Amino acid sequence: MAPAYGGSVPMRRIMKPAAAMEVARYNLEDALSDHSASSELYPTLSRELSREMSRDSRVTDKYAFAFDIDGVLIRGGRPIPEAIEAMKVLNGKNPYGIKIPYIFVTNGGGKTEQERCVQLSKQLELEVSPGQFICGHTPMREMVAQYKTVLVVGGEGEKCRHVAESYGFKDIVTPGDIIKDNPHTTPFRSLTEQELENSKLRNYGKVKIEAILVFADSRDWAGDQQIILDLLTSKGGYLGTRSENFDEGPPLFFAHNDIIWSAQHDHTRLGMGALRLSLEAMYHGITGKKLEATSFGKPQIGTFEFATRLLQQWRKENSGIDAPPETVYFVGDTPESDIRGSNLFNEHSANEWYSILVRTGVYDEGTTPKFTPKATCDNVLQAVLHAIEREKNKDTLKWRDEVSSQQEALRSTHSVDWAAKGSMIST
Ligand code: G3P
Ligand code: MG
Repeated sequence: MAPAYGGSVPMRRIMKPAAAMEVARYNLEDALSDHSASSELYPTLSRELSREMSRDSRVTDKYAFAFDIDGVLIRGGRPIPEAIEAMKVLNGKNPYGIKIPYIFVTNGGGKTEQERCVQLSKQLELEVSPGQFICGHTPMREMVAQYKTVLVVGGEGEKCRHVAESYGFKDIVTPGDIIKDNPHTTPFRSLTEQELENSKLRNYGKVKIEAILVFADSRDWAGDQQIILDLLTSKGGYLGTRSENFDEGPPLFFAHNDIIWSAQHDHTRLGMGALRLSLEAMYHGITGKKLEATSFGKPQIGTFEFATRLLQQWRKENSGIDAPPETVYFVGDTPESDIRGSNLFNEHSANEWYSILVRTGVYDEGTTPKFTPKATCDNVLQAVLHAIEREKNKDTLKWRDEVSSQQEALRSTHSVDWAAKGSMIST
């Protein structure tokens, strides 16, 4: 049976266009009707077929999407209108009836992935699972093994403490805890009743803080920076101490490095990357030294490697697809993080990462993005349709190539026959 399918082309590839897939499926079913005999004959084929039979064949295994959130799907907490439509297209509402797997990769954070997915499900009017979601601090959960006592900075109220608890960090300190212990830490800022109630009283002079984790945008730039600088210039992470050489403090980690992001305001707002710039300036001002710190999030390769693993797992669990997609379409609004990251990862990755920039967020129409996207679209819906068309064109081209190569093969076999026949006739 196999040669009929052009042997060299892996079976699954032939199955793409729905019609051809059905034909191939029937032929294979025929071929394999006597399952026991044929499964010995074609072990991989029958395994492939039973898996194909078991999975929803409308789900394409050839490409997938990774979506940024702020400025692409959501703006200032509200869904961007085309985003809801785009989700419907991905779930089969398109001319080809195909479903396309997708994940979400945001630098935002400040609440648990579970809580963020519940919120996103409401905003996008469809279920979003933590199994398809990464936020800026998600990869930081892997530092639980390294650090016991950590200072967690940013976000609303106690939310970041809950995120750290959900990751398994054993001993979590917040700026509020430190101010409660020593109100003179922030001369112009005292805790609200609620903050006092939430904060944990301890003698922090006796607590060794092993790492500083900035999980989300700071709600108190002055207080948070004062406390971070107190620790960076401390002796070994003990508050109230001062290092002579200023390099005995705990390491500093940021969930991302976005200097600006697109919120409800017409113009971009300052982000966590701006807090880092401010800290770098003050640290240098105080110590004369350059501040060393590590950022997660996009454009870091680590985040795209994490996204690749998550996408692989999601497609496997959700659609029974094992092999990596040929192409991942990354749709973002920030050239410095989304486009730069997916272009960089495209150079490293075995499969193609195709960056699409949309005009609904940070990117300002008429300006030249610092990092060049593969395509620029008005909004996420146009981006999804652009990718689907591109894949269809790729398919058509591939079919054309296959048909012409098969025609070529046929022509050459027949010309050999005719030639042989010709020579036979001549004698
Ligand atoms: O604070 C988050 C913001 O900087 C960007 O979020 O979803 O565009 O990566 P996002
Ligand atoms: Mg964005």
